Amino acid sequence: MMAKVKTKIGNDYCPQALFLYGTKQEDGQPHFGLFCWFGYYHSSEGLGVMACIGEEKQTKDLIRKNGVFSANLVSEQLLPLADYYGCTCGRTTPDKMKRLPTVEWGQVLDVPTIAESPVSFELEVKKTIPMGDGSDIFLCLIRNVTQDEQLLDTTIPFTERLMQAAPVLAPGDETYSSIDGRYLGKWGEPMKNMVNTKE
Ligand SMILES: Cc1cc2nc3c(=O)[nH]c(=O)nc-3n(C[C@H](O)[C@H](O)[C@H](O)COP(=O)(O)O)c2cc1C
Repeated sequence: MMAKVKTKIGNDYCPQALFLYGTKQEDGQPHFGLFCWFGYYHSSEGLGVMACIGEEKQTKDLIRKNGVFSANLVSEQLLPLADYYGCTCGRTTPDKMKRLPTVEWGQVLDVPTIAESPVSFELEVKKTIPMGDGSDIFLCLIRNVTQDEQLLDTTIPFTERLMQAAPVLAPGDETYSSIDGRYLGKWGEPMKNMVNTKE
């Protein structure tokens, strides 16, 4: 057996799925940012999401203001646009949203969602935990879930539907990976291949 070796603190090899958080701006336009510090909790009210947002940014301004946002699972098809949303600061780039996916609006909450995303959550913030160093953890109740119709076809084995959803993972080393282990580039690379976005 191989030895276990002490290493730097981090979560490499513990893959995280990526999500685009959608918020509504003051003028009614949608706003999106890319996030990976995302997990789940369960309470008597139902399933909840834990979302950690680091330093101040436009997404956090809008989540605080509205108390609601969407989390849209990033698929391989969405990765170039998602990478752009993750590498472009909303506060200092007023025209960040000149590139948009197909935007829909929540069925339950007033939040923008992404039609191309295989899974969208509509989230209501229940508690905000300020860590005191600029980082905040939002505990949110999942108020609604929408999924691609084909993901609900139970005649297809679940693992096959998982491959169809094609979620993008952030397994470490600032890289993107597919769910079946294909390398999808370094952070900041996929955005160079942006296509099919409205300008
Ligand atoms: C792969 C990836 C994952 C990210 N995950 C997070 C995260 O979990 N929390 C966070 O605060 N920022 C995260 N970021 C950084 C934000 O996406 C970045 O601050 C972006 O500017 C947010 O959009 P906004 O400035 O329009 O709010 C991530 C960036 C990348 C490329």
